Amino acid sequence: MVTAAARKTVQKGKLMDFTSTVIVPLLFGSLGIFALFRLLQWMRMRAYLQEAVVVITGATSGLGKECAKAFHAAGSKLVLCGRDSEKLKELVQELCAVKNHRKNTHEPHPVVFDLSDTKTVVNAAEEILKALGHVDILINNAGISFRGTIVDTGLDVDKKVMETNYFGPIALTKALLPSMIKRRQGHIVAISSVQGKISIPFRSAYAASKHATQAFFDCLRAEVEQYDIEVTVVSPGYIQTNLSLNAVTADGSRYGVMDKTTAEGQTAAEVAQVVLNAVGQKKKEVLVAGLTPCLAVYLRNLCPRLFFTLMASRAKKERKVKGS
Ligand SMILES: NC(=O)c1ccc[n+]([C@@H]2O[C@H](COP(=O)([O-])OP(=O)(O)OC[C@H]3O[C@@H](n4cnc5c(N)ncnc54)[C@H](OP(=O)(O)O)[C@@H]3O)[C@@H](O)[C@H]2O)c1
Repeated sequence: MVTAAARKTVQKGKLMDFTSTVIVPLLFGSLGIFALFRLLQWMRMRAYLQEAVVVITGATSGLGKECAKAFHAAGSKLVLCGRDSEKLKELVQELCAVKNHRKNTHEPHPVVFDLSDTKTVVNAAEEILKALGHVDILINNAGISFRGTIVDTGLDVDKKVMETNYFGPIALTKALLPSMIKRRQGHIVAISSVQGKISIPFRSAYAASKHATQAFFDCLRAEVEQYDIEVTVVSPGYIQTNLSLNAVTADGSRYGVMDKTTAEGQTAAEVAQVVLNAVGQKKKEVLVAGLTPCLAVYLRNLCPRLFFTLMASRAKKERKVKGS
């Protein structure tokens, strides 16, 4: 007669057999497949970025500067755009001083122009194509922010923000697009913002310019897919950069304040790495933000009335703090 203890031992043995013959190989097999998948993904990304001609606007500061470092380290041929030739020269020197023994690194090509002047943007695109022959990846990063009430803000300020954040980047994109279509190859990146998806009080011109950016590049993605051109929209939350310091106010003057939210945001280097991975993996869009901004985006779409109430109370609170 088989005792209960013996039956238990047999069952335990069967369980151990099942674990060692099925579960363990399955676990290691899945881990192996995952590791192989990540390795292939990494190799594909490396091949995509190495030697690619990458144009970065707003390379003199914050996220643009960190993107320049990240793409340079990945072996891309950089075209660094900005308004300040001295700052661009310094960045070129800084990048050239970094030795990378594993990859070919190239001396970046600086191009000076003001995005808010669309004529100079078209000339800059011509200069870039003449110097490099083609553009593989365009990163529309440069931008300015805004702080002020709608009632006090002159239309010239709205126009300035739109020109820098919207018309400048789309002018550059349109100027480079025909050559990408001709080659049936290219990748256009727009650095938008969470504020391209939700609107926060006292940021009207900025939120409007980023909503326009999101809309334009979503249309572009659909239109250029047939030419094998990729479009990636990156929407960050707060990043530790000079964006709030450089923001324009209702009368056009510089805001000059480092906002607490900006100071406590993600580092520009972290976000630049997200941009690099998003481009390398040809992602269509990325939201790079903490839980609260992400929830706000969902709330705006799923429960707009609650979102509007929250924004109205935020506006009241901010007004009280400013004493207006
Ligand atoms: N920081 C954030 O919290 C945050 C959050 C979401 C999205 N973003 C977006 O990230 C992008 C980069 O901003 P950032 O945070 O790195 O700010 P930043 O440190 O102020 O850098 C902005 C860059 O844009 C350039 N720029 C501004 N106006 C220009 C113009 N008219 N023509 C050419 N270049 C111009 C600046 O060049 P100069 O040196 O010549 O001024 C600078 O290189 C922007 O599109 C911004 O909207 C930022």
